[in-house]
Amino acid sequence: MKKLLVICLTALVTTAGFGQSKPAKTIENLKAGIKGETTASAKYAAFAKKAADEGKKQIAKLFEAASKAESIHAANHSKVLEGMGEKMETITPKFEVKSTAENLKAAIDGENYEVTKMYPQFMADAKDENVEKAQRTFRWASETEKKHFQLYTDALAALTSGTENTLPVSYAVCPICGNTYDNAKAEPNCSFCGTPKARYIVF
Ligand SMILES: [Fe+2]
Ligand SMILES: [Fe+2]
Repeated sequence: MKKLLVICLTALVTTAGFGQSKPAKTIENLKAGIKGETTASAKYAAFAKKAADEGKKQIAKLFEAASKAESIHAANHSKVLEGMGEKMETITPKFEVKSTAENLKAAIDGENYEVTKMYPQFMADAKDENVEKAQRTFRWASETEKKHFQLYTDALAALTSGTENTLPVSYAVCPICGNTYDNAKAEPNCSFCGTPKARYIVF
């Protein structure tokens, strides 16, 4: 009987993960990711307003859609962090709003950093520490940022050449992973997470 009790207690302790060390790098990366995504979301919302003030409606829509996508990434990272029993401190986003052309350049630089440096490192750390949910949320964000990088690059080129009328008229955002489409080219199911098109948020 005593032996059975010991076995049961051992199983309980093992299942609950007591005594196991937490994935320190991934926890730190999730917090940095939440900070980055929350800041990007606030920044793009402000850039959208600036573009609308300048009469650049199509670029304003792109910033609005990307702002939503970044808030979805922040929420997804937060869910994973909280699932690990960790909490995020309050963040005050800091950024500057300049002209729309300069804002697009700043957005391109930010996305480029996340795609080439930040998320590849975060995904490698999450793989090393074997945190599958973190690998997934980082992958969804990283794949989205690659698309944002391209959309912003196209918008800046159009703005520079005075061909903004060739830009997408609306954008679609997957509510689950943040994937962002030119709405006219949105796939029936999200290419990252499989969510059906009917659920996309359209800007
Ligand atoms: Fe982005
Ligand atoms: Fe998705």
